[in-house]
Amino acid sequence: MQLRCFNPDCAAKLYLHSPFLACPACGELLEIDVDTTDVDSDALKSLWSERRKSREPRDISGVWRYREFLPAYPPEEIVTLGEGNTPLVRGRKTADWAGLTNLRFKHLGWNPTGCFKDLGMTVGMTEAVHTGAKIVACASTGNTAASLAAYAARAGLIARVYLPAGQVSLNKLAQALDFGAEVVEVEGSFDDALNILLEKTGEGIYFLNSINPFRIEGQKTTMFELLDQLNWKAPDYLVVPGGNLGNSAAFGKAFDELLRYGFVDKLPRMIVVQAAGANPFAQLWNDGAKELSPVLEPETVATAIRIGNPRSWRKSLRGVKNSGGQVLDVTDEEIAEAKAMIGRDGIGCEPASAATLAGLRKLRASNSIPKDASVVAILTGHVLKDTNFIIRAHQREEEEAHAH
Ligand code: F0G
Repeated sequence: MQLRCFNPDCAAKLYLHSPFLACPACGELLEIDVDTTDVDSDALKSLWSERRKSREPRDISGVWRYREFLPAYPPEEIVTLGEGNTPLVRGRKTADWAGLTNLRFKHLGWNPTGCFKDLGMTVGMTEAVHTGAKIVACASTGNTAASLAAYAARAGLIARVYLPAGQVSLNKLAQALDFGAEVVEVEGSFDDALNILLEKTGEGIYFLNSINPFRIEGQKTTMFELLDQLNWKAPDYLVVPGGNLGNSAAFGKAFDELLRYGFVDKLPRMIVVQAAGANPFAQLWNDGAKELSPVLEPETVATAIRIGNPRSWRKSLRGVKNSGGQVLDVTDEEIAEAKAMIGRDGIGCEPASAATLAGLRKLRASNSIPKDASVVAILTGHVLKDTNFIIRAHQREEEEAHAH
């Protein structure tokens, strides 16, 4: 495996463990080139099933189980907390509410730190260890910080997290503190925090934002696990919330590999849902624009996706287009309503995750997807990730009831 520039006109290739986050030739993001030649997809499907019976940490991890499609490391270097292995849960009230008959949730919030970030962090942190890093850092709306802090603690590395001051859920901040991270509060948005961090190259820091291609590889395995759970039959639609667009970029890369190497013969249409106040990708999609115009002051109650300048938009767009999908946005009110419905189904999630269900309801209302389509919605964060949001919503409900 090698690193490859994502820009097809450049296509520069680099040694896999080079310390770059962007192409030194053209500045575009990098990705990992899985140039496996002889893949026997049937044999691998059986092997991956077999590994579920194993007691080896690499087989138990729902990421490293699929390691034939990941960079290789000596087993003792792998930093794992047993991530992955998240179930598919059928939507009941949520399906009725959205106007669907076949809705399932894949709840990535049921990972070790309560968020999908763990799936990428296990690979990113392993790479950090492999390259001899001592300090790891990220900018974050909260979840990446919590995940980085946990995996850094496991690896014995120093964790430094850059957070937009006053814009991060206290539950997430508490996790980062509990796992021993150094917290740097930045006046401004997530985008400002990321810019500040990226200026710190040359200070011996290993960067673990989702522009890090090793994180994308880990997050890619969500689609390997999902299709494995569905006996390699893709659903009609896959719905995912979009912030910095790393996760949808990772899913797009997984689609490409799963199709190319014969694991599936059809892809799900990938639908990316943004919050209306932080929707540069939805705007790009609607306008058919060639370049992304950042939203300068992103605003949404779903603080996890309060991002105005998503870095991975080109990668994400490739996945959306290749799968015949689309991008849309939903309002904060729609997100809050959808989140409450997911709670009533006994599942629960944080606000950003509920953008998926809100998006589905919107698409059904305009008859853009069939009622009986098979749909998998990706829930990205656990219900306990933003408890303030829940308490405030219920207080408001009570106040309104009293007012009438
Ligand atoms: N859902 C949750 C719960 C998130 O925390 C994030 C991103 C997203 C969705 C969007 O994913 O950025 O890959 O498009 N959170 C990042 C963080 C930015 O810092 O925790 P994306």
